[in-house]
Amino acid sequence: MKFFIDTANIAQIQEAHDMGILDGVTTNPSLMAKEGIKGEAAIAKHYVDICNIVDGPVSAEVLSTDFAGIVEEGKKLAALHENIVVKVPMIKDGIKAIKWFTDNNIKTNCTLVFSAGQAILAAKAGATFVSPFLGRVDDSGWDGVQLIEQIVGIYNAQGFMTEVLAASIRNPLHIIRCAEAGADVCTCPLSSIMGLLKHPLTDLGLEQFLKDAKSMQ
Ligand code: G3P
Repeated sequence: MKFFIDTANIAQIQEAHDMGILDGVTTNPSLMAKEGIKGEAAIAKHYVDICNIVDGPVSAEVLSTDFAGIVEEGKKLAALHENIVVKVPMIKDGIKAIKWFTDNNIKTNCTLVFSAGQAILAAKAGATFVSPFLGRVDDSGWDGVQLIEQIVGIYNAQGFMTEVLAASIRNPLHIIRCAEAGADVCTCPLSSIMGLLKHPLTDLGLEQFLKDAKSMQ
């Protein structure tokens, strides 16, 4: 399973990259706004800055909701850097645009996916990635991991090439469950990635080893 970081924060992207385990980055308009980025030029520069840190797919989301607008914006985003993946919302014009991008060799990430039916449409349009939001599914009283399992099962049964990118990850257990479910990619906040490191027995064991090692000096 590939690890992407779900943030537009340069320091966090750098930290995850420096651990050597980062395969890509996903952003969305909320995450970009959180960084205080304003204006088309600053937004474009920020995507390029991210691409210069991580040598892997970097999702940049379109803001248009009509076919012509999505295509126009997506072309501009894709031209910024070869690693840019155009993130497109799961709407009718979005699906049409994903098909256009597929036919024109531009990579896409179909976002705001909450059902297996939506995931089938994204795959039919040739999306490179599909992003089911498992945390938000959990928030609404459904089982997000079950949705990941269902989509992975359908894609395997049908031979779809679209990669299942589990998004809206909230904790380390989500990452583990996505790995069990066979997700191709998990995009996570830095806190969830760091949470995978933690175990009290590791800390206690290390403390003891270091103490015993001192007695040998
Ligand atoms: O990748 C989608 C993700 O950013 C949504 O996460 O935590 O806002 O549901 P969240």
